[in-house]
Amino acid sequence: MVTGGARGIGKAIALKLAGEGSHIAICDVNEEALASAAAEIESTGRSVFTGKVDVTSQGEVQAFVQKVLDKFSKINILINNAGITRDGLLVRMNEADWDAVLSVNLKGTFNCTRAVAKAMMKQRSGKIVNVASIIGLIGNAGQANYAASKGGVIAFTKSAAKELAPRNINVNAVAPGFIVTDMTEKLPEDVKQAIMKQIPLGKWGSVEDVANLVLFLVSDVSAYITGQVVQVDGGMVT
Ligand code: NAI
Repeated sequence: MVTGGARGIGKAIALKLAGEGSHIAICDVNEEALASAAAEIESTGRSVFTGKVDVTSQGEVQAFVQKVLDKFSKINILINNAGITRDGLLVRMNEADWDAVLSVNLKGTFNCTRAVAKAMMKQRSGKIVNVASIIGLIGNAGQANYAASKGGVIAFTKSAAKELAPRNINVNAVAPGFIVTDMTEKLPEDVKQAIMKQIPLGKWGSVEDVANLVLFLVSDVSAYITGQVVQVDGGMVT
C-alpha cells in the first residue's frame, strides 16, 4: 500500500514493487492521476487496487485499509509517501498553511500506520517505510511547517519501530534530498541552481533513486534494520 501513489516518488515506488512481484494498493486525492498510475502498474501484470483517499481523514483511511484487506487479505508493506508543501517565511506563514502541511505529512502518516499496523500485528510481520526529507534533519528557511512535519515523521518512525519490533514489523524512514518531481518543479530557477551547488554528486536525484532505497528497506536483506533514517541525497547532508 502506497499513499500518494498517483504520481512522483509514490508512483515510482509502486511501479518498483510491482516489478518485484507485489500486488499494489495506491491511494491519493488526485483521481485522474490515480487512474493513469493504475494503468501503468497493471501493465507490469500485477493486481492494482486504487482509492480516492485523503490521508488526513482517519475514517477514509480506515475504510480504504479494510477494502485492501478484503481484496488482498494481507498488507505486507506500507509506504507513507503522501506529502505536500506550503512554503513561506515563518513570520508570514498563516495557520492554514501550517495546519495543512502538518496534517497531510505527519497526521496522515499516523493515520495510515495506525490502520495498517493493526493488520500487520495480527500477521506478525510487516514493513513500513515513511518518506521523510533531509529538510526534517537540517531545516530550511521558508519551510518551517514542512521541516517540522518531516522531523515529526522521523521521531514517529523511531517510536513506531520500537513499539512494533516485538511483532516483527520493521519501520524505517527515507530522507530524500532534492528529487526531480512535480513538487520540486515549481521551485524558482535561482533556488534550483543554488541547491545544485550543494549536491556533491552534482545532480538532482530521480524518483528511481528513492524507489531503489525503499525496495531495499522492504526486502528480506534489510531484515535487521529498523528505526533508521536513510538519506538518499547525493551526499548533500554529510
Ligand atoms: P508529488 O506532489 O509529485 O506527489 C505527492 C502525491 O501525494 C500527489 O499525488 C498528491 O496528490 C498526493 N497527496 C497530497 N495530499 C494528499 C492527501 N491529503 N491524501 C492523499 N494523497 C495526497 O510529490 P513528490 O515529490 O513525489 O513527493 C512524495 C513524497 O516525497 C512527499 O512526502 C514529499 O514530501 C517527499 N519528498 C520529496 C522530495 C522531492 O525533492 N521531490 C524530497 C524529499 C521528500
